[in-house]
Amino acid sequence: MKPASSNIARITAICIAGASLIPASRMIYAQSAASVRTDAKLCGTCHGTRGEGTPAGVPRLAGQNADYLAHALSLFKAGTRKSAIMQPIAAGLSEAQMSALAVHFSQQEVRVAGATSSPLLVPAGKQLAEAGATNLAPCFSCHGAKGQGTGARFPGIAGQPAQFVIDRIHEFQTRARNAVPKPGTMTAVAAMMSESQIQAAAAYLSQPGGA
Ligand code: HEC
Ligand code: HEC
Repeated sequence: MKPASSNIARITAICIAGASLIPASRMIYAQSAASVRTDAKLCGTCHGTRGEGTPAGVPRLAGQNADYLAHALSLFKAGTRKSAIMQPIAAGLSEAQMSALAVHFSQQEVRVAGATSSPLLVPAGKQLAEAGATNLAPCFSCHGAKGQGTGARFPGIAGQPAQFVIDRIHEFQTRARNAVPKPGTMTAVAAMMSESQIQAAAAYLSQPGGA
């Protein structure tokens, strides 16, 4: 398992243009909610112009539930969800900007950033997502049919970059090691997953057309 810092270094290097815009963004965010398109352009330097995500592990925002996105931003702002990249960005956003950006990205057409790099793992991942395993409930039993998401609590997971899925599940596992997870949460699910199950699920979910 890679330490989180190496992931951050990798993503920061890839999003260098975006990262260098962060101080300027604080001024942009001081403007009114009508500037959502300008704000969204900054987000697009890392998340893709239409919020489609990137194979390096920056998540797709396009088509995601708006309340889920707004909630994720407020968690970053509060520091309850850790991300060296997103916490300072969210800290500069008002509640109004968060909901405007969340609505903006939820309305973008879903495009998938990249093909899976591990096609041989796809059948095992499909099995896990649809039918589960002895240690796991099917992913889609919570994340909705085809992993499209249901409501504000269960995000769409189909069509996310494999690296994002892997990084996120590792993060949930770290959380599970620090405190006993509540049953029925993603932290509890992640704690049960083997590394090969994580890789297989990520390969399947990252397929184009999976969204
Ligand atoms: C410098 C690159 C960068 C910029 C700029 C950026 N993001 Fe992010 N964003 C990331 C990365 C990397 C993650 C994954 C963080 C994690 O889960 O640890 C992320 C995660 C998120 C998430 C969580 C998505 C999910 O499904 O869990 C949301 C929402 C989000 N960003 C919204 C935004 C918005 C809105 C903006 C513009 C105001 C923005 N981001 C700007 C890199 C960036
Ligand atoms: C018991 C219900 C449940 C099951 C089963 C479940 N999940 Fe989740 N999952 C959740 C919830 C709830 C969240 C939102 C957690 C949060 O926001 O902190 C989540 C979040 C996620 C995320 C982060 C998405 C994002 O955009 O940030 C990924 C990736 C994920 N799940 C993958 C999976 C995979 C792969 C499986 C199957 C092996 C699975 N989940 C099974 C409940 C579940």
